[in-house]
Amino acid sequence: MAAPPARSRPILVTGALGQIGSELVPALRSRYGNDQVIASDVRVEPFAGPTGFPSEHLDCTDISQLQDFVWRHDVGTIYHLVALLSATAEAKPQVAWSVNMGSLYNVLEVARRCRCSVFFPSSIGAFGPTTPRDRTPQVTIQRPTTIYGVTKVAGELLCDYYAHRFGVDARGLRLPGLISYVAPPGGGTTDYAVDIFYQAIRYRHYVCFLAADTRLDMMYMPDAIRAMIELMEADPGRLRFRNAYNVTAMSITPAELAAEIRKHIPDFVIEYRVDPVRQAIAESWPRSMDDSAAREDWGWRPKYTLSEMVEDMLARLTERLKSADTSE
Ligand code: SER
Repeated sequence: MAAPPARSRPILVTGALGQIGSELVPALRSRYGNDQVIASDVRVEPFAGPTGFPSEHLDCTDISQLQDFVWRHDVGTIYHLVALLSATAEAKPQVAWSVNMGSLYNVLEVARRCRCSVFFPSSIGAFGPTTPRDRTPQVTIQRPTTIYGVTKVAGELLCDYYAHRFGVDARGLRLPGLISYVAPPGGGTTDYAVDIFYQAIRYRHYVCFLAADTRLDMMYMPDAIRAMIELMEADPGRLRFRNAYNVTAMSITPAELAAEIRKHIPDFVIEYRVDPVRQAIAESWPRSMDDSAAREDWGWRPKYTLSEMVEDMLARLTERLKSADTSE
């Protein structure tokens, strides 16, 4: 990455204790300085918590609380990570709408009033069964059938609206399933690709909730964090799109991931007990996205292949689980 640009107003990360925030906050702090990044979450943890950093309480569905927070800290950029993931959202669609859309609307309104930039994570979930599933184009049919997807498409459109109508510098990525070892995801359809590592290390056995040949896009978290930072630092004049760019690193099935893990843990066994809800969601999403627009416009390139990701993930998660076990 190029040298970091000078910052005058700090960055706010919402939903900072989640899967992405747990790694984005330390990455932003090491790039821009500790005092330039404020972590916030609706959850309150007594100490630094598993993420290793303290975070301030902030409920983004309350616009006056958010407005006050942004004024008080003179926030200049908001990475808005608050969201219910696909399977949880499907179980509680009304809550998903009010959390995912309510908080995004508030963030954009406050960003408009306080001249903040906004990062919005869209997803492969913004596509649906009528979208071409292979090499899914940047601009294509987006008719998702999940409430999660509805909030992601509506979110993309709302961000674009605020960009064009009010000049809010809102940018986003359509992220694939994210694989990481710091904080687990919760309630997503792509979670199998994280759970499998915990179970492989601990029990050498995993019962997968998706069918063996369910192909989906995935990315290792360090690549995803770099993509978010690079997009937010990109020259705006080069961005043909704002919300949101397709990005991917690998297109894999549970069977392929298990085979790669078996190269390191030969007695690892995977079984399949398909959850019809998550299987139907996965089958409505792309098998692989075309991310050439991101490559052309702001130089996106993933670094981790499937085999590099598996090797790194197993080594780091083994280490993490060992130190968690010894500190119990
Ligand atoms: N990882 C998300 C989910 O499975 C998709 O963006 O819900």
